[in-house]
Amino acid sequence: MTAYQNTLDFARSQDAADPLKNFRTEFRFPQHDGRDVLYFTGNSLGLQPVGATDALKQELDDWATFGVEGHFRAKHPWYSYHEELTPSLARLVGALPAEVVAMNQLTSNLHFLLVSFFRPHGKRRKILTETRPFPSDTYAFASQIAFHGGDAAKDLIEVQPREGEHTLRTEDIVARIHELGDELALVCFGGVNFYTGQAFDMAAITKAAHAVGAVAGFDLAHAAGNLHLKLHDWDVDFACWCSYKYLNSGPGSVAGAFVHQRHLGQGLPLFAGWWGHDKGERFQMKREFKAMPTAEAWQVSNAPVFTMAVHRVALEQFDRAGIANLRAKSERLTGYLAFIIAEVAKATKTDLEIITPSDPAQRGCQLSILAHGHGKALFNRITERGVVADWREPNVIRMAPVPLYNSFLDVHRFGAILTECLAGSH
Ligand SMILES: Cc1ncc(COP(=O)(O)O)c(C=O)c1O
Repeated sequence: MTAYQNTLDFARSQDAADPLKNFRTEFRFPQHDGRDVLYFTGNSLGLQPVGATDALKQELDDWATFGVEGHFRAKHPWYSYHEELTPSLARLVGALPAEVVAMNQLTSNLHFLLVSFFRPHGKRRKILTETRPFPSDTYAFASQIAFHGGDAAKDLIEVQPREGEHTLRTEDIVARIHELGDELALVCFGGVNFYTGQAFDMAAITKAAHAVGAVAGFDLAHAAGNLHLKLHDWDVDFACWCSYKYLNSGPGSVAGAFVHQRHLGQGLPLFAGWWGHDKGERFQMKREFKAMPTAEAWQVSNAPVFTMAVHRVALEQFDRAGIANLRAKSERLTGYLAFIIAEVAKATKTDLEIITPSDPAQRGCQLSILAHGHGKALFNRITERGVVADWREPNVIRMAPVPLYNSFLDVHRFGAILTECLAGSH
């Protein structure tokens, strides 16, 4: 593989040889000074697939044409719309079709799954998570602990990085799991931490959790559509994710959930609703709840057709691109961004510290950068020049070159802008 070079020719040649290069034309880019912005925020909100407009229009037209009969007569019948998404979702997260469902929102799904998978009893009451999890997860964990009469100050534990380190070592996570042993009810990590961009070894964490009799679950907000996931083979108990980041399905779009096959049809306690009822007799309106024998048992409400329409278009793109191909490009593209940042740091004599692990196996698209001595002012300057990255308190710039629509040229251009902004600030 060719070594990276900080030249326009190199970036152009990489793009020319990229088998996924045409996907870029399938997205709408916000504009800055008459050209596409340099969009590096797919880890926050993915770009809009061009096909989203027609997909939404189809549903509006079918609603106008059929009214309530659209449930069965629409081009994509609404009654079973979520089922159309299942095969793609299963491929995307490495699951059996019965193990996945598109439903609700991410934090809602986390709560619904915790109802089934966090059931503290005896001395087994603790939840172990990563350092600095996304706040919504902390709120969900703490409120679930309180719901069961516990005390989050005691029972919610974060694995801390070693002194002077930003990220976690798998061996430390595993050691902490074994230390907590039979006090541990649940290990629940992000697949990729939102702040540092560290990708966790989900197979190793799951194995360790199971070894001490605990359950293993993951919030895949930053992992779905980003990493090559194998949830079934890794033996993960449950997972949930959103679709508005790497899955490009629009703000607040329908989320997803995974429940491992071995838990399906086992009568696990859950918060039930009619859409989780056995679909063969859902409309018999019986009093007694009979759960679907799939992850659909966790559905509570009829599914949101408009957001599923966009999700369907976005998932089709993933099917065409293939997650293995996307991941191969992603490793190379994010590696190029790391290289360019190092080049700029050298040229401008700036301390740009990337806190995301340098090992491609321990990260996805995202790099998190500490710009020592520059911080928010630098972020504001690159923003004014048409770079869309994001700032996370207290002091990190997050950037995610996304293999579906970002190019090597984007990364090279960013390097030039960063150099100008840093040169101007000395
Ligand atoms: C890791 C993680 N978990 C949870 C959430 C919250 O998601 P939602 O508002 O869709 O419930 C986010 C949102 O960015 C996130 O990054």
